[in-house]
Amino acid sequence: MKFFEDKRREVMVHIEKFMLEKMNEYLKPIDTIWQPSDFLPDASKDTFFTEIKELQESAQGLSYDLVAVLIGDTITEEALPSYESWLAMVQNVSDDEEGGWMRWNRHWTAEENRHGDLLNKYLYLSGRVNMRMMEISTQYLIADGFDIGTGHDPYRNFIYTSFQELATNISHRRVASQAKKDGDTLLSKMCGVIASDEARHAKAYKYFIEKVFEVDPNGAMLAFEDMMRKKIVMPAHFLREVGLKIGQTFGHFTDAAQRLGIYTAIDYVDILKELIEDWHIADMPDLNETGEKARDYIMNLPDRLLRVADRMKNPMLEYKFSWINS
Ligand SMILES: [Fe+2]
Ligand SMILES: [Fe+2]
Repeated sequence: MKFFEDKRREVMVHIEKFMLEKMNEYLKPIDTIWQPSDFLPDASKDTFFTEIKELQESAQGLSYDLVAVLIGDTITEEALPSYESWLAMVQNVSDDEEGGWMRWNRHWTAEENRHGDLLNKYLYLSGRVNMRMMEISTQYLIADGFDIGTGHDPYRNFIYTSFQELATNISHRRVASQAKKDGDTLLSKMCGVIASDEARHAKAYKYFIEKVFEVDPNGAMLAFEDMMRKKIVMPAHFLREVGLKIGQTFGHFTDAAQRLGIYTAIDYVDILKELIEDWHIADMPDLNETGEKARDYIMNLPDRLLRVADRMKNPMLEYKFSWINS
């Protein structure tokens, strides 16, 4: 155990240099990056009320399922305090408040913070949402907390964030194109800029893990295998509405996402394939016997998951979320 922790500490110190070199590429300068107000009606202008009217008119065109997905996405973005405190607990990331990893953590959180802000304000103005119900779900999610199986291990955490950032990129991107089809160009633009932030973050976390593989291929492979055996659980799994247990709301949320093709079982497999390719899993050198077994498990997983996904039916069950007015 001691050896395991020392090795990870050594690796994280080593990777920190590469992270600091690339920090300005993976996280954009605060003064020039977009802010929610760039997209929202300006309350100090005479045009405010007309703009809100227009926003509400185009929001009327969004399908029920799309609004449900958007609310679920917003709540998971708004649960940001959970992710920040969870990353701050990761061993060797949190050792030094002024150290590189903690700086990364704060800057990444600061960038993410804009996502929930923007979507929340949009939904509030749209008039389609029961804000009180949505806010209760947000508070539940933060207060309940969630166990995503990474523990305090930096490898598992960054494997998780690599996956998670790719997943949020797909989902925001698809909401953007669906919103456009439904005639809401403003929402489409908003989700588009959020999606491109997520793509940049995914690149960063993938790069960190790529560097880990270079110096600790066995440790990284076992961590990857372990995360995939447990399955990557999205924070949305833990969503709940008033009167419901954890997990019940997620079933309906994911049905809506699956019906619209916003995030499906096939996307999960595609993300896994992308990670396998980007981390060069197939021809990873210097693996010991356990490392090789872990690699074989990972390499066989996409096909196995695709067979399961093929048997899945498109969910038809209609559900009335407490979050949505109409
Ligand atoms: Fe985000
Ligand atoms: Fe992100």
